[in-house]
Formats: sequence, C-alpha cells, structure tokens
Amino acid sequence: MPEIIYSTKSDLPKLAECHKSAFPDSLSSKMGKKYLEEMIAWYLSDNSKILFHVEENGRCIGYCGGMILDGTQPTGSASGMMQYSFNSAVKAIMLRPWLLVHKEFLNKYKLIYKNIKRKFSGKKKQSGALKKKKNKELPEKEMGLVVIGVSSDFHGKGIGSILLQEFENKTLSMDIKKMGLAVRRGNEKALKSYQRNGWEISKEHPDYYEMTKRIL
Ligand SMILES: CC(C)(COP(=O)(O)OP(=O)(O)OC[C@H]1O[C@@H](n2cnc3c(N)ncnc32)[C@H](O)[C@@H]1OP(=O)(O)O)[C@@H](O)C(=O)NCCC(=O)NCCS
Repeated sequence: MPEIIYSTKSDLPKLAECHKSAFPDSLSSKMGKKYLEEMIAWYLSDNSKILFHVEENGRCIGYCGGMILDGTQPTGSASGMMQYSFNSAVKAIMLRPWLLVHKEFLNKYKLIYKNIKRKFSGKKKQSGALKKKKNKELPEKEMGLVVIGVSSDFHGKGIGSILLQEFENKTLSMDIKKMGLAVRRGNEKALKSYQRNGWEISKEHPDYYEMTKRIL
C-alpha cells in the first residue's frame, strides 16, 4: 500500500533515486547523486517550501515539491535552487565537463550566468514584485508546484494523482486557495495527469503552459 511521507534529510538518497528514474535524461540527473540530494534539500531549507513522497516497501516511487509564492520571494524556484546547491553544482560539472554542452545547460545559460554573477557579487536580491509594487498590493498567495516525478516503472498507476491530491490537501491546510505550475509543451503524460486532476491551462507560452487550480 503506497504511503505518503513528509520527507526529511534522511530521505534524500531515496528521493534522488526516484528523481533519476522519473527524469532520466535531465541535466540534474546527469549531475550525479550528490548534486541531486543537495538540489532536493533546497525544499527543506525553510518553511515556505514543502516536500513529500510516496513510499512502497521502503522505496520512494514518487515525489513532489512546492513553494509558496506571495510576491516576497527574491527569486523564482530555479534560481533559488541554483544558489542553494551552487557548490555541489560546480563540483558536479567539473567532474563531468561534457555536461556543458547538454541541451538544458545551453538553454539555461543566461539563467546560469546570472546566478554565477549573483553568487560572487554577494548581493541579496530584492523581490521583483516588491520592487515594482512598493505601494501596491502583493499578488494573491499561491502554492507553486515546482517538481513532481514518479519512478518510470510506476507510471500510469495513479501515483501522480496521489501526489497531486496531497499537494492540494497540504495547500488547503496552509489556507492557500490557488495552485500554479508550469509544464513544457509536449509533456503529454504530465498535461493529461494535471487535467485529470482538475488543473487548467491559464496561459500559453511558446515552450510551456502555465496551469492553475483554485481550491474551492
Ligand atoms: C507526470 C507524471 C508525474 C504522472 O504520473 P502518473 O502516476 O503516471 O499519473 P496519474 O496518476 O495521472 O496516472 C494516471 C494513469 O494511471 C491510471 N490509473 C491506474 N490506477 C489509477 C488510480 N488508482 N487512480 C488514478 N489513475 C489510475 C489512469 O487510468 C491513467 O492512465 P492513462 O494515462 O492511460 O489514462 C509521470 O508521468 C512522471 O513522473 N513523468 C516524468 C516526470 C515529469 O514529466 N514530471 C512533470 C514535469 S512538469
């Protein structure tokens, strides 16, 4: 029977294994277990983030992570994660320099460059929303779904739906009524799973969709 567990530091090796199985070709998976554990540890770094997984017979077969977005965050999840796991990322790339031409690395080079500069400048970035909206209201609080992944041998068995339902329950328990995520165009499995669970496309971008779900 699958069991939902709120992940702690000691679960990170299991979650890293699950991530590798769910996202086998991603840059993060190619960067090795140590980097993955550090990257996932970002979700445990403060209580504006959540991290939980589904376990069966002691194995993590799916996991999900999110963060509260209320306009006060200095960076988005990608930069936050990069800043947090910066040293591990540098080590991982130094040991595997061929990853410098991995397509995700090439696609994200602007973001990577910005984060290298930020790391070495030592400046703390102010939230974009706060800067722009000094005297205005902050946006509606939302729970952002940053990652969801099911081990490949468990796809199509309803594990993604268990994770999405728990994400929703947790969001509601934190008194947040809106959830959001981004999904790449072409990721039909994920799109179908989100739609089956009541999420709707709220904005179309050239490469991805923004999806939202309101909890009534
Ligand atoms: C996206 C992802 C998390 C979906 O996980 P999943 O467990 O396959 O998703 P679901 O729970 O929605 O699975 C539903 C399928 O299981 C079947 N199913 C079997 N038992 C079920 C149950 N008890 N409850 C719900 N669905 C069940 C459904 O009929 C459905 O089959 P279908 O797709 O043929 O219609 C998974 O495909 C994944 O990890 N992908 C790689 C990582 C990724 O792309 N993540 C998203 C990035 S945005």
